[in-house]
Amino acid sequence: MPLNAPKASTSLAILASGTGSNAAAIAEYFQGHNFVSIAGIWTNRPEAGIKKREINAPIHGFLPEKDETRVLAEWKKLGVEAVALAGYLKKVPLAWIEAFPGRMFNIHPALLPKFGGKGMYGLHIHRAALTSGEAFSGLTIHEVSKEYDEGTISFQCRVPVEERDTPETLQARILKAEHWAYPRVLEAQLCQTPMPNPLSCPK
Ligand code: GRF
Repeated sequence: MPLNAPKASTSLAILASGTGSNAAAIAEYFQGHNFVSIAGIWTNRPEAGIKKREINAPIHGFLPEKDETRVLAEWKKLGVEAVALAGYLKKVPLAWIEAFPGRMFNIHPALLPKFGGKGMYGLHIHRAALTSGEAFSGLTIHEVSKEYDEGTISFQCRVPVEERDTPETLQARILKAEHWAYPRVLEAQLCQTPMPNPLSCPK
């Protein structure tokens, strides 16, 4: 193998607490991928939506306060090199962030720094975007840092707000764009290939 040849694959762990649609989109996108493999999906909620989905990746449960060290040890043992937060609702332990500098990513369904930070989750985000009369909302994929929603931004894509939008319809349209963007941005980050074109993001 020539020097500098790409490694066989980068192992990615996914963290999910919600309905698991982003985690499923990522797992599906990387199935059979040449350079990225899914080590597994870790969830802190016994009733998490991801458990009801048909996913070709192992799903692991954990308790955030209790299993912080165990999960990190598991990731090390499995050779995990990057982590994607996909609707993970708990604060990420500092030890995890420090173990994956620039290699732990999150997705947020708004154009950060707008509508981010504490209390900005789920429909609260879309309600706030509608109330402030934004012409566009969208999504942000960023590196995870110690502060909520404040790490370096990797990618943003705009989704127009429509006159008849409710928080629910805006959320659904942005979620569709998330499923398109997140795996492609992770691929670009992990394989050092160009970022997807934000204009190609489904609206
Ligand atoms: C997504 O909107 C994501 O941006 C946010 O939480 C939601 C998770 O949705 N962080 P799902 O669980 O992936 O369906």
